[in-house]
Amino acid sequence: MDLKTTKKLNNGIEIPMLGFGVFQCKDGEETYNAVRWALEAGYRHIDTASAYRNEKSVGDAIRQSGINRKEIFITTKLKIEDIRTGMQVQAFEKSLQLLQTDYLDLYLIHWPVPGKNAESWKILEDLYKSGRIKSVGVSNFVETNIDKLVVGAKVVPAVNQVELHPHLSQSALAAHCVKLGIAPEAWSPLGGTGGTLLDDAVLQKIAKKHGKSTAQVTLRWELQNGIITIPKSTHKERIIANTDLYNFELSAAEMKAITDLDQSPLPTGMGWDPKSIAF
Ligand code: A2P
Repeated sequence: MDLKTTKKLNNGIEIPMLGFGVFQCKDGEETYNAVRWALEAGYRHIDTASAYRNEKSVGDAIRQSGINRKEIFITTKLKIEDIRTGMQVQAFEKSLQLLQTDYLDLYLIHWPVPGKNAESWKILEDLYKSGRIKSVGVSNFVETNIDKLVVGAKVVPAVNQVELHPHLSQSALAAHCVKLGIAPEAWSPLGGTGGTLLDDAVLQKIAKKHGKSTAQVTLRWELQNGIITIPKSTHKERIIANTDLYNFELSAAEMKAITDLDQSPLPTGMGWDPKSIAF
C-alpha cells in the first residue's frame, strides 16, 4: 500500500484510497495553497462540495499545478438547496464551470433530502450515462436511505461518504455498504475541526509505539479497514505528514483497540448523529 493505492469501485473506476478534503477551507488563498501543497505532496484525489464554496479555488489550483487533469480524481457534491429547488442539472454545470473541467470523477448527493432522493438519483444516473460523471454516489445516507434508493436504482451508488473515525467507527453502516458493493468513505477522518480525537490516550499510546502521530495512526486505521479517507489541513507540514502512512502497520489487536474507541451516538456538537435527523 502507498499513496498511489486505489480502490476499484463497483463500476471498475479506481479511486485513490487517500484523498485531500477541503471542507472548511476558505475560498481563495487558503484553499488554493492547500490544494497546491497536496498535489505537490503526491495526493491525486481532491474532495470538495458545492456547499463548501471553494470549488473555484480547487479548480484554479488543479489547473495551475500543470498536472494532467486525467491524473487527478475530483469529487464534488450536489447540495441540499439545489435538490430542494429542483436545480440539480444547473448545479452540476456550475460545479464543472467552477472546477474548470468537463467531467467529474465522482459526484455525490451531499445529504438525503426527504422525498427527493429518487429524483436526484435519476438525474445523476443520466449524467453518468452521458459520460460527464465517471462515478456517482451518496453521502450521509444511513441504511434505510440506501436500501430505499437501491430498490429503484439502475446504478448502484459507487460510494457512501459519511462521518467516520475512531470515535464514530460506523462498523454496521460500512458493512452494510460493502455488502451492497458500495465503498465506504470517511469525512472528518481525523475527528473534525475542534475535535478531541487526536488527543485520545489509546491513540497516543499506539502512536508512540510506532513513532507516529495520532493523526497518522488514525488514517492508517481507516486505510487498513478498507475505508477511503480524505483528511483536511491548511498546514503544509501536516498535509505532507498525513501521507506518511505506509512504513508501519497496525496489528490486529491495535486495530481492535482503535475500533473500540467508538462513542456512538456521538457527543453533541461534534458531528452527525443520524438518529437525530428525520430523513
Ligand atoms: P488544520 O487545517 O489547522 O491543520 P478532518 O480531516 O477530520 O476534518 O480534520 C481536520 C482537522 O484536523 C483540522 O482542524 C486540521 O487542522 C487538523 N489536522 C489535520 N491534520 C493534522 C495533523 N497531522 N495533526 C494535527 N491536526 C491535524
